[in-house]
Amino acid sequence: MEKKLIIANWKMHYGPIKAGAWIRAFRRERLPKDLDVAVAPPFISLASVRASLGRASIPALASQDVYWEMEGKFTGEVSPPMLEELGIQYCLVGHSERRKHFGETNETARKKAIALQAVGISPVLCVGETVVERRDGNALKTVRAQVRAGIKGVKPDGKAPLHIAYEPVWAIGSGRACSPHDIREMHEAIRGILRKAYGAKASDVRVLYGGSVDEHNILEYMTTSGIDGALVGTASLDPAAFGRLCRASIVT
Ligand code: PGA
Repeated sequence: MEKKLIIANWKMHYGPIKAGAWIRAFRRERLPKDLDVAVAPPFISLASVRASLGRASIPALASQDVYWEMEGKFTGEVSPPMLEELGIQYCLVGHSERRKHFGETNETARKKAIALQAVGISPVLCVGETVVERRDGNALKTVRAQVRAGIKGVKPDGKAPLHIAYEPVWAIGSGRACSPHDIREMHEAIRGILRKAYGAKASDVRVLYGGSVDEHNILEYMTTSGIDGALVGTASLDPAAFGRLCRASIVT
């Protein structure tokens, strides 16, 4: 397995000016060499982040969403080639907040993932069960169904390999992170589906964890077998704290 990956998901925070300031502050942070780091600003701030990065390639740029058509009459949407123009490397699809508030489904997430790979951007398919699904013993069933439906037609490898982020909905922004034991169980189930779908190529897919990850618990997750990285919301909003989180993620 290649390097681990940490993605900062700013959600609906930081317009172009504040986003540029975040990048300038973050560039002062020392980062472990053996770690991939990416930041996912809102659409409107992507260009400013790109400009603030200058020639620096770290952090890599990620998008929080995309539309699956390449061009056309889709008022308000942003296409994969537009993201590609800005050198975006990763794009979230199917985040639970998009599923909950904006009608994202397994099928729309899948279409987005395929469209992203067509222009060389790695899709990060987000999956995860609700608190009710976990309480009723349906967590594994729910996540398995989301993964199976979301990866149909999506490539595991190549220039833009698939990524999966397991994010239990009840753990997002709640301060109640999932236990490494439960994550391991889920990641093993996800790996099983990937192996069945992709054979040996399944090992090219990085499977991340997200949900109340912070600088204090990151190491426990990153050293749990089967976890290839993290998707970090709240704890990525402060550049210095996010720098500490990245440093704390690796035993040096
Ligand atoms: P959180 O968000 O770190 O605030 O829980 C994670 C996410 O939604 O990607």
